[in-house]
Amino acid sequence: MNLLITGNLGFIGPVMTQLAQAAGHQVIGLDVGYFKDCVSGPIDETPPDRQIRRDIRDVTSEDLTDVDAIIHLAGLSNDPMGALNAELTYDINLRSTLRLAEMAKTAGVQRFVFASSCSIYGAAGGAGGALDETAPFNPVSAYAVSKVRSEEGLSALADHAFSPVFMRNATAFGVGPRTRFDLVVNNLAGWAHTQNVIRVMSDGTPWRPLVHIRDISRAAICAAVAEREAVHDQAFNIGRNDANYQVRDIALAVHAAFPTAELQITGETGGDPRSYRVNFDKAQQRLPGFAPEWTLTDGVKEIAAFLRANGLKDGGFDTRLFVRLKQLQYGMDTGALDAALRAHD
Ligand SMILES: NC(=O)c1ccc[n+]([C@@H]2O[C@H](COP(=O)([O-])OP(=O)(O)OC[C@H]3O[C@@H](n4cnc5c(N)ncnc54)[C@H](O)[C@@H]3O)[C@@H](O)[C@H]2O)c1
Repeated sequence: MNLLITGNLGFIGPVMTQLAQAAGHQVIGLDVGYFKDCVSGPIDETPPDRQIRRDIRDVTSEDLTDVDAIIHLAGLSNDPMGALNAELTYDINLRSTLRLAEMAKTAGVQRFVFASSCSIYGAAGGAGGALDETAPFNPVSAYAVSKVRSEEGLSALADHAFSPVFMRNATAFGVGPRTRFDLVVNNLAGWAHTQNVIRVMSDGTPWRPLVHIRDISRAAICAAVAEREAVHDQAFNIGRNDANYQVRDIALAVHAAFPTAELQITGETGGDPRSYRVNFDKAQQRLPGFAPEWTLTDGVKEIAAFLRANGLKDGGFDTRLFVRLKQLQYGMDTGALDAALRAHD
């Protein structure tokens, strides 16, 4: 199958590209390249069969020639990035998603796999039990609102010839060619490795479901190739039931891999109201070919081994190389990006 993966030059995209090619698919990558230089270490990146360097806001119908399915990852990829400029988040994450989908539908592309997020469940808390795909949305950021509205807009396009699928991914962890350290597991491991401190900037009680980037990638590829009946206009929470953690327990899992590090729970409140426990049964039962493989323990071991073997470029994990928001800010400060995040190089 000819698979267009947008956002292929980020954290998840390179891993997804490699897995898709290994499964026999031709991959066309489309990315503006905000993080092309944010290479995390000596991990080989398999290039796609064809790379389109383009802003998602400027996709043309030619970009969709001979495409059988789209996995749409491109976008401002977390809640703090959305806070940079809410209107820009809606432009890149929402309006461009719907425009791409409309063009895809016109071009006869029948499958559109959208990288949504469990962030749409927002401030649900943990007390009411784990949330399945029918739970109400409770978005608490422009990023999460952009995902909710994208799902709604894509769903409105669904018909006999166009099948959107909504992958509500948990918070990712893992190591790849462009590893992020602005996500909770990797971040705490980064603290432990570089500072010998594991610092939780809250009281540690919020619930956060977790998932490895390889499991996110395999789930999206399964959704791209599945029979229409299995996935048409369906949402799937992507993660695993035994990886719903409170942040303090994530810290303890990281501590097991860095036992000499000091564990600090600062007790701050108010920074991030997100807390949600999620039920992941549906994907395991009804997404053909998918079962999550990675536990948090395995992932922490992978990250710890990577950090110990390679250190970190420039010595720190809290730099633009690994923190998406800082790289965008750097691009704007140096003139490589304008205020609308248009690339000028
Ligand atoms: N990482 C997570 O924890 C997580 C969880 C849930 C959902 N998701 C979603 O998965 C997707 C990928 O996440 P990631 O962690 O790989 O993010 P990332 O920030 O590492 O990668 C996103 C990619 O999209 C590209 N992009 C951004 N704006 C673009 C534009 N205007 N035009 C073209 N390309 C553009 C960037 O250059 C980058 O390569 C995102 O949509 C994100 O919202 C991620």
